[in-house]
Amino acid sequence: MHLTSLCLLLTLMGLCWCLDNGLVRTPPMGWMTWQRYRCNIDCKSDPDNCISENLIKIMADEMADSGWRDLGYVYVCIDDCWSQKQRDSNGRLQPDPERFPSGMKALADYVHAKGLKLGIYSDMGNYTCGGYPGTTLDTIKTDAETFASWEVDMLKFDGCYSNSTEKALGYPKMSEALNATGRPILYSCSWPAYEGGLPPKVNYTQLGSICNMWRNYDDIDDSWDSVLDIIEWYAKNQDVLQPAAGPGRWNDPDMLITGDFGLSYEQSKSQLAIWAILAAPLIMSNDLRAISQDAKDLLQNRLLIYINQDSLGKQGSLISRIGNLEVWKRELINGQYALAVLNKGTDGLPRPYSTNLGLLNVTQCTDGYKLYNVFEKEYLGMFTSSTPIIIRVNPTGVIFLFLRPVSYIP
Ligand SMILES: *[C@@H]1O[C@H](CO)[C@@H](O)[C@H](O)[C@H]1NC(C)=O
Ligand SMILES: *[C@@H]1O[C@H](CO)[C@@H](O)[C@H](O)[C@H]1NC(C)=O
Ligand SMILES: *[C@@H]1O[C@H](CO)[C@@H](O)[C@H](O)[C@H]1NC(C)=O
Ligand SMILES: *[C@@H]1O[C@H](CO)[C@@H](O)[C@H](O)[C@H]1NC(C)=O
Ligand SMILES: *[C@@H]1O[C@H](CO)[C@@H](O)[C@H](O)[C@H]1NC(C)=O
Repeated sequence: MHLTSLCLLLTLMGLCWCLDNGLVRTPPMGWMTWQRYRCNIDCKSDPDNCISENLIKIMADEMADSGWRDLGYVYVCIDDCWSQKQRDSNGRLQPDPERFPSGMKALADYVHAKGLKLGIYSDMGNYTCGGYPGTTLDTIKTDAETFASWEVDMLKFDGCYSNSTEKALGYPKMSEALNATGRPILYSCSWPAYEGGLPPKVNYTQLGSICNMWRNYDDIDDSWDSVLDIIEWYAKNQDVLQPAAGPGRWNDPDMLITGDFGLSYEQSKSQLAIWAILAAPLIMSNDLRAISQDAKDLLQNRLLIYINQDSLGKQGSLISRIGNLEVWKRELINGQYALAVLNKGTDGLPRPYSTNLGLLNVTQCTDGYKLYNVFEKEYLGMFTSSTPIIIRVNPTGVIFLFLRPVSYIP
């Protein structure tokens, strides 16, 4: 009870040391072109998969019609390679006229009419990573105004082709320029990833006050190695990263690759569980037209989304490691918890693990907790601090548990 009132008090006090644009009080959810579609501009021979308004509209249709939007996946984001190779005569960025013949404003209107939001991409530097015109210090204001005039809802601001001095000037300047447009635009900064992601080169206090989310580390690739490398980096640096996150300001371990080619079913669960524990943005990059039912069920798991979207906004962390088994824990609002037991091993035997809530320091509620297996969608019963929890975790897989106090009052 007193835990509930403490949380309520914190909520009422509206504590926020974050970019004050009112956006993403919980991690953003959506879809983005990059990981799956890259810089495919070949609409002649690959019309269904090239970066174009056609692709964005198709994904927006899927998101509205196949249950994604209603679960919270609302941002439809264009990454690199959307623009012309030259700015127009007024110095403004313009979309490629063959691939975006209706223009960006019309595309934003289309996306908005579906109850979705449109994301766009630019790059602090001379060129984008794909070689398109970049946003230099002298074009920041123009570009912010251009994006706002198109009624864009999110900007991913990359960092190729600039040095550290220019980034240190440009990222705060773009934040101010977006604010000055008067349009709330989710601001995603790639800045820290270009500076190694750690202090002293990265100042997370400053980032939290100018950006809504930021990429800390390397780009994700379509493989388990890549996912595991990212998970390990977040674990290793969690003392720095965990306090940086909160409502309105999120660490971004990069896109979800569930539904693509590189992950097994078990590995997809592992990425999703750890991203939910990390309070990470859930931005898919996949083909929603052709996604398997298994992948869709994982991405649309309501309890997983509930955990990810927890309004306390506290990033979880790795709390113990026994050989290849890792236990990750996230504290949720009103005394609830999420626990992920990850088996990084590749030896075939599902690894047994025994524990109890006392050992995991989940003891506030002395009446005990109701336990749920998130992916199996199964209620496991009531557990006190000494009730044995015995599980088996598949190789490169995870058991993802949700804990709710028996005396829970929403
Ligand atoms: C960007 O362009 C300027 C002006 O041409 C040049 O001086 C600078 O070295 C370039 N920066 C990078 C990182 O390429
Ligand atoms: C960074 O780039 C700017 C503009 O191109 C240049 O004036 C400055 O000397 C560069 N700084 C460093 C540390 O390379
Ligand atoms: C701009 O910043 C001010 C002060 O932080 C804030 O109150 C306002 O909501 C911001 N506006 C937008 C559009 O982000
Ligand atoms: C980090 O940024 C904050 C806010 O901008 C500032 O007050 C603080 O001095 C900076 N810390 C360091 C170590 O530069
Ligand atoms: C539980 O808390 C104790 C005391 O604070 C600490 O020593 C121990 O490492 C914690 N265990 C876990 C799994 O978090």
